[in-house]
Amino acid sequence: MSYLDIDLEQALSVAKRAAREAGKIQEDYRSRGFTVGKKGETDLVTEADLACEEAIIRVIRETYPDHDTLAEEKGGSGASSPFRWLIDPLDGTTNFAHGFPVYCASVALTYGGEPLAGAVFDPTRNEMFYAAEGRGAYLNGDIIKVSATNDLISSLLATGFPYEIRAVEQNNIKHFTNFAMLSQAVRRPGAAAIDLCYVACGRLDGFWEFHLKPWDMGAGALIVAEAGGKLSASDGTKLDLYRADIVASNGHIHKAMLDTLAM
Ligand code: IPD
Ligand code: CA
Ligand code: CA
Repeated sequence: MSYLDIDLEQALSVAKRAAREAGKIQEDYRSRGFTVGKKGETDLVTEADLACEEAIIRVIRETYPDHDTLAEEKGGSGASSPFRWLIDPLDGTTNFAHGFPVYCASVALTYGGEPLAGAVFDPTRNEMFYAAEGRGAYLNGDIIKVSATNDLISSLLATGFPYEIRAVEQNNIKHFTNFAMLSQAVRRPGAAAIDLCYVACGRLDGFWEFHLKPWDMGAGALIVAEAGGKLSASDGTKLDLYRADIVASNGHIHKAMLDTLAM
């Protein structure tokens, strides 16, 4: 089986439908309240995370019953298909639990680890970001492009920190300090998939993070690439969705970002 066997437009519309359905569920729980559990000291999971995941998998299965799925809350499906859907049912759970309106659903179809189609839906702004390989990146029907900013000191950047910030060696604090000194400003919005989409549409010039999961990056990485941006691992090698570290930029500031990360 080859990736040429799939209709990308159909896969993209499934990704969008699944992400939109999850967004509806998020807003529904937001208005009526939800229970919050803990996966770790600071790592939360809400009723909405679980309901969104179920809904996304149901939508995917309607069209692709044989495809593999890898979802944050329930893990892998065990299917042996080379087509795998990466699912973050609610990216930005900490924000969601506090009523801080920066969260989304992220759904991507991959083949052999490479994203082919993906959608990120932010229900708080009714913003659907999406892309299919070779077909450009879009926000609510309009084509999007990365920014033209070409130096770090004029750049607005974003990053994030892992839940295990107290335990891991690479806690990103040193890099955060360095970028704060060398860029125009650094933000920590709290939903990696949205950070990536904001690089894609030029609201941010660059983003970096360590300790991410494939479902945080799958859709957003494709959207950045299709918007003309550049992606790599933190050491400048090819991005690997299963390796946890990512640098995404408009391309112009990529080298400066890598140089800063090497400091
Ligand atoms: C988290 C968010 C956050 C990032 C964390 C992720 P979650 O995902 O994307 O911005 O800094 O590393 O784990 O848990 O809200 O889906
Ligand atoms: Ca996430
Ligand atoms: Ca999540």
